[in-house]
Amino acid sequence: MNDSSLTKHNGLIQWVDAMAAMCQPDRVYWCDGSQREYDAMIKIMVDCGLATPLNEKTRTKSYLFRSDPSDVARVEDRTYIASKSKDEAGPTNNWIDPDELKKTMKGLYTGCMKGRTMYVIPFSMGPVGSPIAQIGIELTDSPYVVVNMHIMTRVGSAVLDALGENGTFIPCLHSVGKPLGPGESDGHLWPCAPIEKKYISHFPEEKTIWSFGSGYGGNALLGKKCFALRIASVMAREQGWLAEHMLILGITNPQGVKKYIAAAFPSACGKTNLAMLIPSIPGWKVECVGDDIAWMKFGEDGRLYAINPEAGFFGVAPGTSMDSNPNAMKSIDRNTIFTNVALTENNDVWWEGIGYDPPAGRIIDWTGAEWTKDSGKLAAHANARFTAPARQCPAIDPNWEDPKGVPISAFLFGGRRPTTIPLVHQAFNWNHGVFLGSIVGSEVTAAAISANIGQVRRDPMAMLPFCGYHMGDYLKHWITIGSRTSAEKLPKIFYVNWFRKTADGKWLWPGYGENSRVLKWVFERVNGEGKAQDTAIGHMPTVDAIDRSGLDVSDADMRELLAVDHDEWKREIASIREHYARFGDRLPRELADELAALERRLG
Ligand code: GTP
Ligand code: SPV
Ligand code: MN
Repeated sequence: MNDSSLTKHNGLIQWVDAMAAMCQPDRVYWCDGSQREYDAMIKIMVDCGLATPLNEKTRTKSYLFRSDPSDVARVEDRTYIASKSKDEAGPTNNWIDPDELKKTMKGLYTGCMKGRTMYVIPFSMGPVGSPIAQIGIELTDSPYVVVNMHIMTRVGSAVLDALGENGTFIPCLHSVGKPLGPGESDGHLWPCAPIEKKYISHFPEEKTIWSFGSGYGGNALLGKKCFALRIASVMAREQGWLAEHMLILGITNPQGVKKYIAAAFPSACGKTNLAMLIPSIPGWKVECVGDDIAWMKFGEDGRLYAINPEAGFFGVAPGTSMDSNPNAMKSIDRNTIFTNVALTENNDVWWEGIGYDPPAGRIIDWTGAEWTKDSGKLAAHANARFTAPARQCPAIDPNWEDPKGVPISAFLFGGRRPTTIPLVHQAFNWNHGVFLGSIVGSEVTAAAISANIGQVRRDPMAMLPFCGYHMGDYLKHWITIGSRTSAEKLPKIFYVNWFRKTADGKWLWPGYGENSRVLKWVFERVNGEGKAQDTAIGHMPTVDAIDRSGLDVSDADMRELLAVDHDEWKREIASIREHYARFGDRLPRELADELAALERRLG
């Protein structure tokens, strides 16, 4: 569609006109979400050399993209929460006065789409019409963004119909920030702006998103982190619900009893893998509702119900193999977009940890250069990703598009911690569980551009880069949620750590499908079963409580995985105190009390 005849929403039409007047695209195109449209966008990019069609047999209807080396991950340093007051954004967010930021960005946006098309993408986060779903409109000059949004969200005319003549939507403006001169084209080069011109900006009072200068992932697919977490977290606080960086899975025991679990781990810490795992214990089944984001509201029965606002997976490629995550591998054998992986001579993809050696013949790395095993370089970028429709996952849950969501029985929090944090422990109660979420620490990964990769940072509820307001108020919101229903209806809260290492740097726990053994204990605990003992830090499984049948993990290793080392925890307390100090008087009193109680219990 080339015009706005798809909608009678005057507010929408006026906003699109105003943004087009500022960005000055050569033309404006309204997306209808059709397969024909998807194919046409792909053709534009294949024709100019930006997209490489992959082997039609092994990777049906799939394409490879290589981004600019400066544009390979989220840019947390260039991400802003521009609330009216700095205090509202809090100590963990970058802040610029919204008027000043708009002035700067208007300067950048003026004429930024010259020589390009402005695509209008109507999208729904969540099944169209679900009471938990929300609508956004993304304006972008990137056909790469259009095809990714087609997969990651529900795009098209049905969304405009749901919006009607005066429904509310989140306006999301995006430009790669590289206008073209007359007759100029990008050719095969990924367009973006230099780092100092990149801005990923959020205006929480206006509920508006302005992104400039990056075409990659969460910087550019604005339904994902910008809307579904940073803006939605603000809406969730105002309206009494939760917008979280969580996977959602269904787990069924051998008797056929099913429960849903949501889990928050920081970026590149195992959500996609856990969401799709194939249990190694006989008779158990895990099904996937979502792998990155959960929106949760209370149902009439007083329980929390979750939807996955997304419709696809934007997953980390390196490390994904038939061994580690066969369901992901099967999800990406067709209709998939690969970004920054390596290309084989056979036009297939390859990455480190795919489970087999690079095939013979020429290999082109993610920068487009010829690559050999002894080059000492990565063939795929560490944050290389696949974009694939969720419905292609063999383990997709039959209720994954249920508009009312699925009832959540347990929350897991976790991160990459080589020491201190045991394999699993359970909170004594809701507030203690919020405390466990608030102290999550994790080694920084390649999912964001950072000089600190590998260093442990505190990342409460895995939301540090994604909370759209003061983190102290966010923690208070979690405390408040716990007072909204009765204790037995609230999800039980657990803290897990798959990433314990031995002194010589080896994984102490095999992880992946074997994590089902921990899920089994969680399931049992939620059911009022499962052997546990009380420790200073929470309820812990006894050494024999985790099912190890058929697993080669010794009693000694299990004891180490479940140890509570009081000296390590005392160091942890000092570090938590430093972390909490940042929130000043906005740290909920309940959490200060939990910290004091933990210290007392440690003696
Ligand atoms: P985002 O998409 O960035 O939010 O990441 P994610 O949390 O979905 O992480 P993902 O599942 O993609 O895993 C990231 C990396 O961690 C991959 O390289 C995995 O192979 C690795 N990983 C996942 N689960 C485990 C595990 O249980 N043990 C170990 N050792 N590594 C794991
Ligand atoms: C993450 O970094 O947590 C991701 C990838 O899921 S991105 O969409 O780039 O945010
Ligand atoms: Mn994520």
